[in-house]
Formats: sequence, structure tokens, C-alpha cells
Amino acid sequence: MKEAIEYPPGPKDLFPYAIARKFLRDPLTTLTILSQTYGDISHFKFGKQNVYFLNHPNYIEDVLITNYKNFIKSKGLQVSKRLLGSGLVTSEGDYHDHQRRLIQPTFYPKKIKLYTEVMIKKTLNLCDTWKEGSVIDIHNEMTRLTLDIISKTVLGYDIKPEDDEIGDSLLICMEYFNRLLMPFGELIEKIPILPINKGFQKAKKNLDTIVFRMINEHRMKLEKKEEKDNDLLFTLLQAQDDSAEMGKMTDQQLRDEVMTIFLAGHETTANALTWTFYLLSTHPEIDAKLQKEIYSVFSHKTDLSFDDIQKLEYTTKVLTESMRLYPPAWALGRQAINDCKIGKYTIPSGSIILMSQYVMHRNPLYFPDPNTFYPDRWTDEFKKNLPRFSYYPFGGGIRSCVGEPFAWMEAILITAIINSLWKVTNIPSNKVVLKPLITLRPKYGMRMKITRRD
Ligand code: HEM
Repeated sequence: MKEAIEYPPGPKDLFPYAIARKFLRDPLTTLTILSQTYGDISHFKFGKQNVYFLNHPNYIEDVLITNYKNFIKSKGLQVSKRLLGSGLVTSEGDYHDHQRRLIQPTFYPKKIKLYTEVMIKKTLNLCDTWKEGSVIDIHNEMTRLTLDIISKTVLGYDIKPEDDEIGDSLLICMEYFNRLLMPFGELIEKIPILPINKGFQKAKKNLDTIVFRMINEHRMKLEKKEEKDNDLLFTLLQAQDDSAEMGKMTDQQLRDEVMTIFLAGHETTANALTWTFYLLSTHPEIDAKLQKEIYSVFSHKTDLSFDDIQKLEYTTKVLTESMRLYPPAWALGRQAINDCKIGKYTIPSGSIILMSQYVMHRNPLYFPDPNTFYPDRWTDEFKKNLPRFSYYPFGGGIRSCVGEPFAWMEAILITAIINSLWKVTNIPSNKVVLKPLITLRPKYGMRMKITRRD
């Protein structure tokens, strides 16, 4: 006879999808309440599916590091395979490890150093287009900028005016994936003529067109033996020809990797920057302190160097604190392959594991006065005493963010350059509402007034 499973505490609703509905409607509040009510580990049902929500750093470490082999990415990410295919974010096992070894060197610090020139130039160019006293949507601006930067630095591609619809297409895809996660959401796909399916197909086609344009331009350059480049797209194209131990990478696999880097490489950073400018605009004393540091490091503003960036300690603290309050990746999901133990509980195979940076980063046990934006909390002493997975905006372990060094360099540079040239002020009509799709976005954009610094 099978032993009865002991589940951790959690909400027990009479209706099978009640908690699932709450979660999908307002995941941040639902998870926050779960953590406050049930503590380090809780359990609920999503239809027939067992879901465990982990809220203790040691349990998260168990899943992401100690027993990582027992977990694959959960359904939440699997739905994004419809757009990303089997790229680095969504692939699994040996194929993932092989691709990770191929892609990771692109983001080593010595490579990142080479990208700073493009990052600086593109940020200054964007600032040149801004008009004194105007109102801009800083989320749009940051999305365009980070897209431009990832395309040029890592994929060797100049974004063209005809690539204009990227932001809208990506939003349509993310909203579509959210709908598919709703109870019975997958039924939507069974009726192709529904406008929502047509909208997704069109958005995917737009993104595909751009990615194939990137690949074809590069291929032509390789064939013509034009100046040899060493960006990631060249590495991937060469890996296609080398047919290494995993066999030749197909055109589809190449497309999937490029689409993944192209999308994962800009949207998260754009959100981190958007929330940072929002926080700075609502905390003038922190903005002033930041500006003081930036002025002291960039005494002659257009002549920035890689070494200058290392000196921007307070800027780094501002971004660290901003990603604590508004982690662009606000939750991670995994699925257990085999039964396993977390704490005193046996987790049956097939269970979904949820972990939320948004909830953990606001835990008063680790972050006193957790809802206050306070960059000065990030002293060396404070960091030393933090448990490993109490702060993890970039995930951890073998599936941690491959672009983390890139993201830090880019976010520090953009924050510093913009802050040195422009003051960004919140306006009363700016309605700030969180929209947690795959990433944590501002639902209505982020409209801000910009004025030149003296
Ligand atoms: C502030 C910016 C960023 C944040 C907060 C962020 C966050 C994350 C997180 C949390 C993961 C782990 C997901 C999981 O474990 O399920 C991840 C993975 C990944 N990120 Fe980032 N990311 C950022 C920027 C970037 C950039 C700039 C790139 C590329 C240039 C990038 C590419 C990737 C890729 C390819 C993966 C999958 C890695 C793997 O599974 O091996 N990310 N990111």
C-alpha cells in the first residue's frame, strides 16, 4: 500500500482552481501572503498538480545547487518554448551543458570590457535625442537602448528602422504565454483561428524575420571572408560548421540560440533600469548622492573608461537595491524528476517547485525595513552575513544567468551616463502598477519628465 504523503501547510480551497486563479491574477500578492501565512515551505494544488512554494534560502540552494540534477525547468518556462525553441534558457541536460560551454565565453569579463565602447556610444546617442523638459516613457527608451546594445555587441547586428515592432511583439508573446498557463489555457491553442493565436503567430513571425536577417547577414560576411569577427553569432555559425561532439547544430537550433540571447539579453536589463530610474525619481536624496559619486568619477564626462566603472560603488549599490525591490526575474520554477526531500517533506516526482525573488528579497528577516529603498544597506559586512539565496536576482547554479557580468556592466554604465546628463522626474499622471509576466514590467510604462543637469 502506498504511504500517505505529508504535505507542508498551505491553502486548501474547495474549488480545485481557486488558488491557481488567484495566483495567475495577482501572483506577487498571492505568494507574499503564502509566505507570511505558511512560512518556509508551503503547498497548494494547481488543478491536480502539486505545487511547493519555497521561501527559505537553504531550500532554494537545495534545488538550484545541491540537487540540481533532479529538476528541470517547469511548465511556466516550457510554454515559452513556443517562441524560444530549445535555446539556452529552455534546453535541458547534456545539450544545455554543451551549449552553455559554447556561449559562456562571450560573457567573460575580458570580453565584456570590449563591449563598453558600444554601450557608452549608444547611451550617449540616445541622450542626444532627448529634448529638454519633455516627457518620455523611460521603459520604452531603456528597451530600445538595451536591444540596440545586445544586438550590436553580442550579435554584431545594427537594429534597423524596420525592426521597430520588437517591443510590441515580445509583449504579445509574453501575454500569450501567461494565458496558456491559466487553467485550461492550453485549449486556446487548439482553436487556431482565435485572434489571440493569430496575434501570437504574427508577433513570432516578426521576431523570426529579424533573427533570420541577423543570421543571414552574418553568413554572408563569413562566406565573403570579410573581416573575421569574434562575436557570439560568429561563434555559433562556426560551431555549426565544426560539427562538434553533439553533432552539427541545425538551422533551427541556431535560430533558437540567437532568439534566446536577443530576447533574454535586453528585456530584463531594461526592466532593471526602468525600476531604478523610478526609484531615483521618487528618492531625490539618493539621486543627489548618486550624482555626486558619478561626477567625482567622471570628471570629464565623455571620456569614460572601463576602470572608471569599477569605481562606481554607490551606483552598484543603487542597482543592487533596485533589483532587490524589483527583481526583473521575479520567480523561478522547476519540476522534480524523481521523488526528493526538501526539509522534512518528501516531494513527489512531477511536483512543481516555485521560488520567488520578489518575495524573498522583501523578507524582513534578511532585509530590515524591507520595503524601503536604502542602497546604503549593502555594506561588505551586510553582504557577508546574508545567506546565499536570500538575494538572487540572477538565479544560481548551473542555470544561473549567463549574461550577469554583461548586465552589470551595462546597467552601471547606463545609469551613470544618464544620471550625469539628465534628471529624471516622476510626473503625477505616471501610473505605476507592476505587471509580472515572465519578467517584472511596469504595466502602463513609465512616463517621466527629463531635464538637463546644469
Ligand atoms: C538585470 C538583468 C538580468 C537579470 C535580472 C537576469 C536574470 C536571469 C535569471 C534569474 C536567470 C535564471 C533563470 C532560471 O534559473 O530559471 C537567467 C538566465 C539566463 N539569462 Fe539572464 N538576466 C539578466 C540579463 C541577461 C543578459 C544581459 C543576458 C544575455 C546577454 C541574459 C541571458 C540569460 C540566459 C541565456 C539565461 C539562461 C542560462 C542557462 O539556463 O544556462 N540575461 N537570467
